[in-house]
Amino acid sequence: MVAGNWKMNTAQDEAKALAKYIVVNTQDIKNGEVVLSPPFVYLFAVSDAIKGSHIKLSAQNMYFEDKGAYTGEISPIMLKDAGCQYVIIGHSERRKYFNETDENINLKLKKALSTGLKPILCVGETLEEREKDITEFVVGIQIKKALYGIQDISNIVIAYEPVWAIGTGKNATPEEAEEVHFFIREMIRKKYGNTADKLLILYGGSVTVDNIGSLIEMKDIDGALVGGASLKGESFVGIIKKVAEKR
Ligand code: 13P
Repeated sequence: MVAGNWKMNTAQDEAKALAKYIVVNTQDIKNGEVVLSPPFVYLFAVSDAIKGSHIKLSAQNMYFEDKGAYTGEISPIMLKDAGCQYVIIGHSERRKYFNETDENINLKLKKALSTGLKPILCVGETLEEREKDITEFVVGIQIKKALYGIQDISNIVIAYEPVWAIGTGKNATPEEAEEVHFFIREMIRKKYGNTADKLLILYGGSVTVDNIGSLIEMKDIDGALVGGASLKGESFVGIIKKVAEKR
């Protein structure tokens, strides 16, 4: 899977043009999933632009109620209505800037699943945590709390995004990423058995067309969640092609 998280970028025309470029230039790629995650207000426009193609739509966040007096929030039902099949949950930018807690993330995951949306759960350590050598401890707690009370993880995707690698141009080395991906898969195996083998674990953080090739060689790296490089059609398509070659 290659997912493009556009974050708070693009204008409507750009969003439509980018989506169409990706549709046209990935038509021959049949293996694997390509997911676009535009800002909320462009979901309908992008949904329209990718209609009839193999590309899937994702939101960047959601609230954990169906409807009601929650000014400014978007419900999972609305996301489905807009054509989403996926929703990113617990992105580190939401944890950092919008006080997203593990408890909220758990509620959102449960709600997404019961609404029929596939969550892309983001986890990852800060630089300080990595330097203290507590990466696995931090990621382990994030996953444990996020999945609390969830029995079936077959529709969940996990994205390992080390915070220090996001938007910094300093990606984790394939070996550094693989170590955490392996840890995540084995942690999932302990609780959910062999579903762990089917779990998609994406790497995110300064992924480019130049570094994706060596990342995707790793046994437990099943794809990428791409920020900056997903905003340029050419580089995103380049990443998709490199992932498709390896799988
Ligand atoms: P960058 O690819 O810009 O580092 O962003 C990664 C990310 O946060 C994807 O969700």
